Amino acid sequence: MRAVSDEDLRVDVHLGPEDFRAALEADVRSGLASTPKSIPPVWFYDEVGSALFEDITSLAEYYPTRAERALLEEHAPAIATIARADTLVELGAGACAKTRVLLDAMVGAGELERYLPFDVSDEFLREAAGELRADYPGIDIHAVVGDFHRHLDRIPRKGRRLIAFLGGTIGNFTPEERRRFYFDLNTTMDPGDHLLLGTDLVKDTARIVAAYDDAAGVTAAFNRNVLTVLNRELDADFDPAAFDHVATWNAEEAWIEMRLRARSPQRVHVRALDLAVEFDGGEDLLTEISAKFTADGLSAELEAADFVLDGVWGAGDGEFLLTVAHPYC
Ligand code: SAH
Ligand code: AVI
Repeated sequence: MRAVSDEDLRVDVHLGPEDFRAALEADVRSGLASTPKSIPPVWFYDEVGSALFEDITSLAEYYPTRAERALLEEHAPAIATIARADTLVELGAGACAKTRVLLDAMVGAGELERYLPFDVSDEFLREAAGELRADYPGIDIHAVVGDFHRHLDRIPRKGRRLIAFLGGTIGNFTPEERRRFYFDLNTTMDPGDHLLLGTDLVKDTARIVAAYDDAAGVTAAFNRNVLTVLNRELDADFDPAAFDHVATWNAEEAWIEMRLRARSPQRVHVRALDLAVEFDGGEDLLTEISAKFTADGLSAELEAADFVLDGVWGAGDGEFLLTVAHPYC
């Protein structure tokens, strides 16, 4: 681990350039050789992709961010009271925008000492954490760059922690990744720690699909950006304009599938890997799943992973769900 300081901002880096590169190479080699071809969503989030995600959050069609913010505005004080935490950890913190609602409630509860935003997107995290530091001078801000599939055990175990995983990002995990994540997280939590999980709920299909296929094409640009990342990082020659953005609802799995569909046959070279890949016309590259939950289903999977529920907000006719839980011990 490298601990570096950006004008006094403490940043632990568990995913340095070599590790990042090795992970990308492994994901591209296996993803482009599989059927269907796929690439994990983590590779969306370079500087451009992170900024495009922020643009998505204010689109009329993209309801999850507004729904979660409204729930936080209403219930953050109750969550702070349950958690009684002096440390807020945030997984996949991104721009740390909704975090402010939580930080304000925790400051109000009188015990908050530190905030640990954790994200894979190094530069974007530093910028967001730097801005928060200016706005919350009394809070110790300690950023951690890592992959939540691999580095949960590197998050400092200081204080009594509330570990927030917001935005519905857990919906981007496969069911197997979710099981593994709950297990890994549970084993790194100490007595007194709590998890705050934000999850999007199953609802009208047209509304969900529109959130992933907006009229202005911002989600399409976010999706195609992954090809630009591969071109830049691995000297590949994808033509992003030759791929259509496709978002479909998989009712059996209760998730959105985001794909890039080749408009015509493509032969792509990934020069850094000495790899040539053929796409048939109409062939898909699966870039993301975004699972939607039911309150009962989520409770059941958390309980199966040895979590005890402390509170659930937004169920019933709600669009989105906030859940607080702690490990059973
Ligand atoms: N929590 C914010 C941002 C959600 S976007 C919100 O609710 O609006 C998803 C975030 O997770 C991005 O900031 C992205 O960089 C981060 N992320 C994606 N995959 C990751 C991984 N494997 N490990 C750590 N962070 C990841
Ligand atoms: C980060 N994650 C929860 C977003 C989602 O809704 O699944 C990513 C996203 N993909 C397309 N639009 C937004």
